[in-house]
Amino acid sequence: MLLLSIESSCDETSVALVENGRRVLANEIASQIAKHVETGGVVPEVAAREHMTAILPVLRLAMEKANVTWKAIDAVAVTKEPGLIGSLVVGRMTAAALAFAQNKPLLEVNHIHGHLYAPWLYPAEDSGKPVLAPSEPQFPILVLTVSGGHNELVLMRGHGDFELLAESIDDAAGEAFDKIARLLGLGYPGGPAIEERARLGNPKAFDFPIALRKEKNFSFSGLKTSVFYRLKENEAQLSDEAFVNDVAASFQEAVVQALVEKLMRAVREYAPKEVHLTGGVSANRFLRGRIEEELSRLRDAPLFRWPTKMEYCTDNAAMIGAAAYFSSQKELPLALT
Ligand code: KG4
Ligand code: ZN
Repeated sequence: MLLLSIESSCDETSVALVENGRRVLANEIASQIAKHVETGGVVPEVAAREHMTAILPVLRLAMEKANVTWKAIDAVAVTKEPGLIGSLVVGRMTAAALAFAQNKPLLEVNHIHGHLYAPWLYPAEDSGKPVLAPSEPQFPILVLTVSGGHNELVLMRGHGDFELLAESIDDAAGEAFDKIARLLGLGYPGGPAIEERARLGNPKAFDFPIALRKEKNFSFSGLKTSVFYRLKENEAQLSDEAFVNDVAASFQEAVVQALVEKLMRAVREYAPKEVHLTGGVSANRFLRGRIEEELSRLRDAPLFRWPTKMEYCTDNAAMIGAAAYFSSQKELPLALT
């Protein structure tokens, strides 16, 4: 089954062609990062206008890259929610128009379900060579999704059988990375910049708080406030590279510790066959390393996976194609007409 999928919930315009929910023939992404660097974050109206300009060129590129015609495509999938409404509308209406014009079913997908399926994806080819399918993930799977807009711990017992075990009660981890990076003058998006500077700093230099330590849910707003006041007290030191590196390292340490502690507690409670890390923050090598280290201490360690390509970590349409395919295996497609 070949799906054409569209994602436009925030600041990435993406169109993908995905076969049987895993094999990615094309995953074209137009990032608006350059635009949002000017404002230090996403301005919803600007994002929506950028999607309007990008959507058709990205669609054309994806179809050319996959080298497919409409005859081969079985359905159109699109992100329904959550997201910025102006951004979502561009993708949703484009998908609906294509499905209507080509007489194909329209499959609507929750963006977070898309992130849950990102570790299932693999590219059809790499540097011109065909890629073999990695092993099929085995349920139950414990998934930690860490993004800019959301943060969840989900138990996947089967396709479409998801239990939300925990979520952030305020900010998502990625948002905290972005805000702290802005305070440190490191630009947008903050995650990669903080990770780079943290490598040069001392994670024990500052003792930033970890919230809700005994509870399942996540909370990062207290940490953000604590870093904010620490920087306010030491404003003059912001020009000191070593100070910035230490704040970045100590902040990253607090986020990673909070994520890993809660993840490991859930691993012990639910004994999953696999642990998946997904969402934009899954690109963080320090976080992956810490999870790997903790899992390796277990006697019956579950298999640990994260998205096989960097572009599947952050928002992309391939993950929407995967989620749509696997959920269409359970229910009848939502036909447009
Ligand atoms: O999943 P995503 O593309 O967007 C949402 O659906 O929210 O995640 C974007 C987030 C941004 O906050 C960005 O700073 C963060 O992922 N991110 C990282 C790294 N790369 C991207 N955070 C920490 N370390 C990274 N290497
Ligand atoms: Zn996302």
